[in-house]
Amino acid sequence: MSKPKSNNAKTISVALTLCLVCSVLVSAVAVGLKPAQIENARLDRNKNILVAAGMYNAESDTASDVAKRFKDFDVEIIDLNTGDYLDDEALKAAGIPDRNAYDASQATKNQALSEDLGDNDPAGIGRKPKYAKVYVKSDDAGNPEVVVLPIQGYGLWGTIYGFLTLESDMNTIKGISFYEHKETPGLGARIEEPEWRAQWSGIQSYDEDGNVATGVTKAGTPKDNWVDGISGATLTGRGVSNMIQFWLGEQGYKPYLDKLRQDSGQTIDNADTQASQATLTAKPNTELAAPVANGKEA
Ligand SMILES: Cc1cc2nc3c(=O)[nH]c(=O)nc-3n(C[C@H](O)[C@H](O)[C@H](O)COP(=O)(O)O)c2cc1C
Repeated sequence: MSKPKSNNAKTISVALTLCLVCSVLVSAVAVGLKPAQIENARLDRNKNILVAAGMYNAESDTASDVAKRFKDFDVEIIDLNTGDYLDDEALKAAGIPDRNAYDASQATKNQALSEDLGDNDPAGIGRKPKYAKVYVKSDDAGNPEVVVLPIQGYGLWGTIYGFLTLESDMNTIKGISFYEHKETPGLGARIEEPEWRAQWSGIQSYDEDGNVATGVTKAGTPKDNWVDGISGATLTGRGVSNMIQFWLGEQGYKPYLDKLRQDSGQTIDNADTQASQATLTAKPNTELAAPVANGKEA
């Protein structure tokens, strides 16, 4: 007659079996949900692109409205140092097999796709991607009407991710949105509020010498073309200010924006008045006005 197993051994084997079954279940659910999570993140990002472009109505827009409206944008990859678009061949040569799947913030983890910023890193991002993804909506003549630029930088508690939209003069800010951050609700997280974001609309990004001339002030200290900071969230405001200045500057999108402006015959100081005229008279584009590849993203 065999001896009955000890109670301890039975308890341990039941516990181990339970652990195994649970971990298999949890892993299966996590793996099963991954595609849905990726899809939701993509939809949320697209929605935030529309928010920054002033093309989203929070009260009435559905997911299918977002998908439909997002189709108005061409998705382009630019070389941040030169401001040029990358066509499919250049993308392959740069080691980017799929423009839609390219993620500039992931690229900062890849030595070949990014540069160390060293001490010259006001946005606190460590490494700068060599290539950035931009979203361009063109008018009927094929000239850029709005460009939506991804931005990121360190706030108080972590990296803030968002989008900044410029109008056709590539100087006037149309809107801004933030879709990921670690700032405190009621303090730094108020950067998400529509009332605070609305202050950015209509601001001129550059002075007449082409220097970045906008940012966030300390609350209650108004300054032309600067946005009033949030009371109790000076440090988040400083982070946003630094990231805006970095991404509008020489290390960021300035070479690209200068080229777009040049292509439509605009300069910083005449951009406002010439914007609509340039749209009417612009020649079929040289390198930048017409997107180089079919950059439509689903
Ligand atoms: C729990 C806690 C959370 C905070 N979160 C933020 C924040 O998200 N953003 C921020 O700028 N300041 C935050 N602060 C406040 C900062 O520590 C600092 O006091 C503030 O930025 C100064 O802003 P003020 O000069 O407008 O008062 C937080 C403080 C505490 C105690």
